[in-house]
Formats: sequence, C-alpha cells, structure tokens
Amino acid sequence: MIVSGSASQSLAAALAAELEEPLAVADYDRFPDGELLVTVPELADRDVDRAIVVASTVSSDAHLELLQLQDAAREAGVDEVVTVIPYLGYGRQDEAFEAGQPISARAVARAISTGTDRVLTVTPHEESVCEFFEPTATAVDAAGRLAEPLPADLADPVFLAPDAGAIELAETVRDAYGAGTTDYFEKTRHSGTEVEISPSDVDVADRDVVVVDDIIATGSTMSEAVGVLSDRGVGRVVVTCVHPLLVRNAATKLARAGVEAIYGTDTIERPTSAVSVAPALAREL
Ligand code: R5P
Repeated sequence: MIVSGSASQSLAAALAAELEEPLAVADYDRFPDGELLVTVPELADRDVDRAIVVASTVSSDAHLELLQLQDAAREAGVDEVVTVIPYLGYGRQDEAFEAGQPISARAVARAISTGTDRVLTVTPHEESVCEFFEPTATAVDAAGRLAEPLPADLADPVFLAPDAGAIELAETVRDAYGAGTTDYFEKTRHSGTEVEISPSDVDVADRDVVVVDDIIATGSTMSEAVGVLSDRGVGRVVVTCVHPLLVRNAATKLARAGVEAIYGTDTIERPTSAVSVAPALAREL
C-alpha cells in the first residue's frame, strides 16, 4: 500500500499506478496548540504486508508528518515499512560548517531511521548522506529524465553546470538529450541568498544554453549564472533541476534574468514539475 505525505500526493499516485498497489487516503487533524495528527485508517482496516510511505520533507511540518505516517504503519502491524523521500529536506546541511553547528542531515536521518526498514531518496545533494540512515538507504538517480521536456530544437546546445558539483548532472542530461557540449562555472556562496559566479571562457554566442543543477532553491545560483551568459550573445536559455524548490521570489528572479522556461521533476510538486521520478523509484521497489 502506498501512503502519501501531503506534499507528495501526485508522485505517490503515479507510483501506485506504476506498482499497481493501492493508494491510501490519510486524514488530517490539528490540535489547538498547532500539533499535527495524521491518521491512515486503511492501514489498520486491511491486512497490509508492505507500506511505502512517500513524503518529500519540504518543511518542518512535512518532517513531522513523515514520522507520524511511519509510526501509523508500525502501529497497524505492517511487516515492512519502506520510506521514499523524493526530496530530502536538510540534505544540504550534511556537515558542520562551523564549530557548534549540528549535522542536520544526520539528525533527520536518525529520526527517520527509527520508523523504517528501508529508505529511498532521489538525487540527494551529496550521495554520502545515505550513510546517515541506519537501514539501507538508496540514492535513486532521475537526472536522465530531465532531458525529456527540453525543446527538441535547441541550437548547438551547451549544458552548463553553475558550479563544479553539478558537472555530472549536466553530462547526464546532455547524454540523454543526445547532442551538445558541457561546461561549468565556479561558484562562491556568500550567504543563503548571495552567490558569486566565476564564468569559464565557454563560447555561448548564438548557442542555446541549458543550465542544470540538482536544486533551485532561492534561484540565486541560477539567476547569477544566467546573468553572466546574457553579456555573451547567448541564444535561448532554459534551466532544469531535479528538485524545483523555488522558494520566495526564485521564479521571478529567473524570469528577470531572461530564462525562457524552468523544468524540474515531481520530487517537489510545482507547476514546473514536468517529469515524474515514479518510474525510476518503481524500478527500485
Ligand atoms: C548547491 O550547491 C546546490 O547544488 C544548488 O546550487 C543550490 O542549492 C541552489 O540554491 P539557490 O537556488 O538558493 O542558489
């Protein structure tokens, strides 16, 4: 049985269809003090062997909701709980960057580990984050699918990583698209919203560019990278990512920078979620 967190309902439905498994409906309540209570009556009503909890942890509430869904499955006596975290929130806090900081990704992984027999997550910021989980955790790669919604008529395209960490992603998307070259910029992050891009000498004049990253959060990285391109006679510019978090004014920043289209997957459900990671997840289940 597929059990969906509220932030992952479309993906959970797609996964249920792929696996031909029933899709449970969760009930929600909130106490006067703001605490959440999620109930999944069908887990108790049916004799369920395996519960697959699908929940992107896009907010603190979503984290709590995931823990409650896992616990509801355990309480119902299911034999196996599999936890699918399409987007792992706090995944970018995978080390203590200054003395006294927590390793937040490890803290949330430990909490999630207590309620599950297995974990799947999609393209985490660093794959090593899987080691923070107690049960087996698998990083599912969905980057190849990012090529699917791209315009078919891109002119001599460059698949550009806005920082060195995204080079492999850019190469994967280029390979799946079947044409073009790859390049990358160097990025220095000054704060949560301020980044500085050091461009390479890539020639983008009259060429279309696809900027590829794992996450678009505030849009600072992408808009700075696209800003550099606009001085160089670039053709069309589109951006693509696995996780379209798109917080605050990210979409506006990208539009102002001259981006023609934003594409992402359904690990985070947004209007830009042009491709589903359900088939990639289903193969692992
Ligand atoms: C960081 O290295 C990631 O790969 C992304 O570049 C980053 O998370 C994007 O964040 P933002 O959109 O806030 O610049």
